[in-house]
Amino acid sequence: MVSRAIEDYLEAILNLIEKKGEARIKDIADSLGIRPPSVTEMTQKLSEKDLINHERYGAIILTSKGEKIAKNMKDKHVILVKLLKTIQVPEEFAEKDACIMEHQLNYRTIEQLRKFVKFVENAPVYPKWVKHFSEYCKTGEYPLECKAKQR
Ligand code: FE2
Repeated sequence: MVSRAIEDYLEAILNLIEKKGEARIKDIADSLGIRPPSVTEMTQKLSEKDLINHERYGAIILTSKGEKIAKNMKDKHVILVKLLKTIQVPEEFAEKDACIMEHQLNYRTIEQLRKFVKFVENAPVYPKWVKHFSEYCKTGEYPLECKAKQR
């Protein structure tokens, strides 16, 4: 088990590598909203735990152990953002809250949320109730179609 802070660092490093091809102290600091000296301190810790490696030219790379944790975090993050957006949470809040939930939720809960997101995403016909819910959020009223009696 690694701490939440470590999981956040690893996820941020993975995101930078995927976006920019590399992760540098300053970019990690910017993406986490932390001062560079604190990042330097943490990267030493991550190195000691064999989660990252420092390249000679200043870039940071993930070890396979670090990458595994980072990818797991990111995977949860993506599911949670999709879920929150499906229930109409604005994107910026969805991003922030996914980062909190990804550390807290039980594995079984995440698995069910994954299935739920997949169920909605891959439905042969986009589920009407998602649209109905979206309309309900905007107007506070059930759409007419919802009110009609089902036969
Ligand atoms: Fe996250």
